[in-house]
Amino acid sequence: MTIKPIKNRISMFVLFLTILPAMVLAETGKAPDAKAAKRGAATFEKYCVACHGKKGIGGVSPPSMLRSPGFITPPTLNGSGHTWHHTDKDLLRTILEGSPRPNTMPAWKGTITTKQARDVLDYVKSLWPERSLKCQGPNHMSCKYK
Ligand code: HEC
Repeated sequence: MTIKPIKNRISMFVLFLTILPAMVLAETGKAPDAKAAKRGAATFEKYCVACHGKKGIGGVSPPSMLRSPGFITPPTLNGSGHTWHHTDKDLLRTILEGSPRPNTMPAWKGTITTKQARDVLDYVKSLWPERSLKCQGPNHMSCKYK
């Protein structure tokens, strides 16, 4: 009966391997701070609303004949889009560094501070429904929260 503890150890190890990706990928899903979101709303009004629309409902695409090549309609940032599929870290990077695709969203680093970018992210997150907050990040597909 010396086999049993070894089997147990193996199954513990297998279990550990199964939950490891979930631990690594687990998103903070951090709820937005109300005061930060309020400050962020002002920054959003000033720099973001022109493209992302009021309350982050998304930009409007001009007619195709007027679009420059590679034009991307500024996406909705509220819970109806896919912004919440990204982690805070990734979203903050997109805001500060801009989109990796040319001629889409410029980098905001230099125009706004990192703190302002965090505040504006809190504002954006304040537009999300509860489920988007709870299921934010790469686990959004398997997230059980209803
Ligand atoms: C000139 C128009 C424009 C302005 C102004 C602008 N954006 Fe964007 N933004 C875009 C476009 C276009 C994309 C999509 C880029 C892509 O998919 O490559 C984008 C993407 C994003 C994303 C990623 C969304 C996602 O679902 O992955 C975030 C977050 C974002 N913008 C936040 C902001 C914030 C915050 C501001 C203000 C500080 C801002 N944007 C100002 C055009 C703009």
